[in-house]
Amino acid sequence: MVSTHPTGVQHSGSQYLPQRHDTSTNLSPNQQLLPLTARVHHHDLLEIGGCDVTTLVEQFGSPLYILDEETLRSACQQYRDAFKRYYKGESQVLYASKAWNCLAVCAIAASEGLGIDVVSGGELYTALQAGVSPNKIYLHGNNKSREELILAIASGVTVVVDNWYELHTLVEIAQPSLPIRIMLRLTPGIECHTHEYIRTGHLDSKFGFDPNDLDEVFTFVSQQSALNCVGVHAHIGSQIFERQPHQDLAAVMVQWLRDATKFGLNITELNVGGGLGIKYIESDDPPSIEEWVKAICQVIQEACAAENLPLPKLLSEPGRSLIATACVTAYTIGSSKVIPEIRTYVAIDGGMSDNPRPITYQSVYRAVVANKMSFPLTETVTIAGKHCESGDILIKNALLPKTQSGDILVVMGTGAYNYSMASNYNRLPRPAAVVVANSEANLILQRETYEDLIRQDRLPERLKK
Ligand code: LLP
Repeated sequence: MVSTHPTGVQHSGSQYLPQRHDTSTNLSPNQQLLPLTARVHHHDLLEIGGCDVTTLVEQFGSPLYILDEETLRSACQQYRDAFKRYYKGESQVLYASKAWNCLAVCAIAASEGLGIDVVSGGELYTALQAGVSPNKIYLHGNNKSREELILAIASGVTVVVDNWYELHTLVEIAQPSLPIRIMLRLTPGIECHTHEYIRTGHLDSKFGFDPNDLDEVFTFVSQQSALNCVGVHAHIGSQIFERQPHQDLAAVMVQWLRDATKFGLNITELNVGGGLGIKYIESDDPPSIEEWVKAICQVIQEACAAENLPLPKLLSEPGRSLIATACVTAYTIGSSKVIPEIRTYVAIDGGMSDNPRPITYQSVYRAVVANKMSFPLTETVTIAGKHCESGDILIKNALLPKTQSGDILVVMGTGAYNYSMASNYNRLPRPAAVVVANSEANLILQRETYEDLIRQDRLPERLKK
């Protein structure tokens, strides 16, 4: 059956292209399904960043992550500019690089003036190697190792302290002559409606100090000459569509600022974390980047005015809403299996190793066929990965044109928590990634080879033939 709009217009992959109704405003990337530069050329072919997707796959292989530089830069600019527009104090946007930490992405974010939030020695090392200035790097983590803390101190980055154990370790390794710049992460006790695994701000969370310990923590920190406590931090969760939880958080955090003054601490930075959601499917309806920023700025300014507090430097650390929509993953369709009256499986050359989100969080995605963009959507099929695991299903009931082996399937919104959570399950080499801009494509992550897969293997002498 051919799927049609109520208007009688046939659905096709083109319906997912960005729609600009008003040229005076920027499209907020997190409200789109495809990257901002996505177009259809020669009637049926998908183009991103001026590059034909099927040609990219011929050049760089399959599967392939395709990152649209313009979409990523636009999201960075929209965050940065909205804070400038709506916040009367100083502000700094940090890219939560756990979404996708690699040299090129860190370099692009930094070139737009963003700082980088890192959560491990490995992410910190990558950001430093990308040339990010240490005074714009913030190290997170609920169980940072001594080595990670030593690296952070040696590099001069800010440490977001999560718990007592870390505070005591820092006091042990820091030198009063060179106080470490720290922020304190607190658990605000705010609930939000998102998948249980990605809620972090409710009280039963492994992250952050319990707010009931606030006085004790402030007292301790105020007595340590080796610690220069500049701010407070909180993060309430991810893929959030409501504005209210972040507004509540902002109000709670201003109360923390007020409390800190009682302990003689000069807290000047307030970090509201990340969490703005993106549109993965048509019914997802997140606020735009600008709306989200505006809502938070208003609450902080009002609360500070009410408490007669000077405006803190306002930090936020979005990950998903900066990069998810900028990237798509292109796969090649291979086998298919028709089970009459039940389901048709269409298999691709990747799966849960390059996108573990569906199997981990039951996340939903949309896909188009890059070489059949104007074909009517006539088939409902299940997109299966190639892993030896029945649950390795990328999309259930995907509405697609009739496909055949060799077609290029493009899954949208794969920039966040895809490459960064990728594995070598079943010893699949991780795919390559390219960045596209102005009709040019550059490799940013090389495809792994079979040699890469055994690089860390060691065969003890006695097991050799
Ligand atoms: N700041 C902190 C302290 C965080 O823990 C996170 C995400 C962020 C910022 C960025 O949040 P975002 O703007 O991306 O929502 N792997 C999961 C998401 C885990 C999020 C972890 N923390 C997923 O694939 O949905």
